[in-house]
Amino acid sequence: MFQLTLCILKPDVVRSPRLFNEIIQLILQRQFIFVKSKRLQLSRERAGEFYQEHQQKFFYSRLVHYMSCGPISCHILGRENAIQEWRSILGPTKVFKTIFEAQDTIRGQHGVTDTRNCGHGSDSIATAQREIGFFFPEFDMKSISKYENLVV
Ligand code: TYD
Ligand code: MG
Repeated sequence: MFQLTLCILKPDVVRSPRLFNEIIQLILQRQFIFVKSKRLQLSRERAGEFYQEHQQKFFYSRLVHYMSCGPISCHILGRENAIQEWRSILGPTKVFKTIFEAQDTIRGQHGVTDTRNCGHGSDSIATAQREIGFFFPEFDMKSISKYENLVV
C-alpha cells in the first residue's frame, strides 16, 4: 500500500552537511518520494509536545533538550509501505542493538547514543497522520493519491 510517513533528521545530522547529503541520497536510492520538506528549530515546548507519549520515560527531558538544541530537517516521505521501510533503513532505537543485528542501518552506522540516533520515523498510519499534521499543518492528507501516481 502506498503510504506517507514523517521523517525527521535530527540535529547531529543537520549539523553535518556530508552526513545529511549521504542520508538524503540513501532515501532517494530506496525509491522514496520527497513530498514536502522543511528545516526548522523546535522550542523545548514544541519538542515536548511532539514526544508527549514519552513524558513519563526516564529519557524524556534529555530527548526534549536534544531535539531543541539545533535545527532539524523534516520530510513527508512517500512510498509503498513507507512507514515500515523508513524505520527499517533507520534501524533500531537502541544503539547497542545495532552492533549485533543492524550494523547496516543509518543508526548502526552513525548513531551516537540512544538519544542521538540520527532520525525519527512514524510507527503507524495513525501516528504518521498526527506527526505530518504537527509539522505540516498546511498539508492536505487527502492529496495522497496525487503522489501515489508519481511512483515509477
Ligand atoms: P521511541 O519512540 O521508543 O524510538 P523510535 O525513535 O525508534 O521510534 O523513542 C523516541 C526517541 O526517544 C528515540 O528516537 C530516542 C529517545 N530515546 C532515548 O533517548 N532513550 C531510550 O532509551 C529510548 C527508548 C528512546
Ligand atoms: Mg517512536
